[in-house]
Amino acid sequence: MRPLPVNKRKAGFNNMVTPRTPRDAKSDVNIPRRKQRGHCSSTGERGRGPVCKVICGAPTCTCGGCCVPEELMVEYKIRSYEGSDYEVVRDLFSHGMSEYIPSICIHVVTRPWVLFVLTCMFLCLLVSSKSVILPVLAVTLLLALGRHLLGYCWSLYINHCLKEDLQDIQKTYMEDKGSHFWVAEVEDSVVGTVAAKPSDENQDELQLKRMSVRNDFRGLGIAKALSREVISFARQRGYQSVVLNTLMVQREAQRMYESVGFKKYTEFVLPTVYGQLVDLTISKYRYDVLPAK
Ligand SMILES: CC(C)(COP(=O)(O)OP(=O)(O)OC[C@H]1O[C@@H](n2cnc3c(N)ncnc32)[C@H](O)[C@@H]1OP(=O)(O)O)[C@@H](O)C(=O)NCCC(=O)NCCS
Repeated sequence: MRPLPVNKRKAGFNNMVTPRTPRDAKSDVNIPRRKQRGHCSSTGERGRGPVCKVICGAPTCTCGGCCVPEELMVEYKIRSYEGSDYEVVRDLFSHGMSEYIPSICIHVVTRPWVLFVLTCMFLCLLVSSKSVILPVLAVTLLLALGRHLLGYCWSLYINHCLKEDLQDIQKTYMEDKGSHFWVAEVEDSVVGTVAAKPSDENQDELQLKRMSVRNDFRGLGIAKALSREVISFARQRGYQSVVLNTLMVQREAQRMYESVGFKKYTEFVLPTVYGQLVDLTISKYRYDVLPAK
């Protein structure tokens, strides 16, 4: 199977990518991901495709998977959602969102008032008990409880989404011509999802939602291709812009959207008690499709 050139990959159809181990396993390369970018070892061109971790570590370029043997290449395509994708789409969303529980915990624990409370508690117990064991145990227990509570709250949010637009995907996204749901598929398996529907705030804006890519297919440009699919849909349907929301912990997603051309236009702390308490910041991004009227 011939690997396709990168420009065809970017078109989002019949794309060739190399499956990877999950992103966590990337640490064995021991260099920051950004620094892996360079020039293709075969053609000398600046590589923009996925980095070959299998053989040479060079980025693939327009020669199409220059350093990746054909047997290691797989094909992905982006297609419209079908009823049979229902379970896997919901699973991909739940798993993608659940990954943020540790980052949210770290975010909360590093809030100044939380650090202050933990330190005070530690010191009070240390002074009163004259032992290190009790304060260490108490702080550990509190952190574990906090982790559990945050995980529970986050799972409530995930369940809320599953009962909202992801309850009846066909009806929410596929029946109106201004909305749509796509999946990225590799060898008949769905590995990525994205949805689009008119924004609640402005009907000229298309809202990008439910972006998620399976862990072992990340960093290969699938999310970028899905974003471009939404942008081209917005263009065809005459929307002025594509907008989306991200949480402060979704840094990979923010970088991905920025690299596609989205610009952050506003940022605010969620106006709820818990939002204010833990400084839950939402960043809104926009991609202008057509010049404003
Ligand atoms: C965010 C997510 C969709 C990205 O999917 P992906 O297929 O890995 O992204 P792509 O390969 O298309 O995009 C890669 C770009 O994203 C950014 N990026 C992705 N992972 C990154 C990482 N670990 N470190 C730095 N940048 C990263 C970079 O800008 C990168 O561009 P580059 O390859 O030119 O450096 C994926 O991580 C995911 O599903 N996360 C969980 C769900 C989620 O957060 N959804 C977004 C809701 S708003």
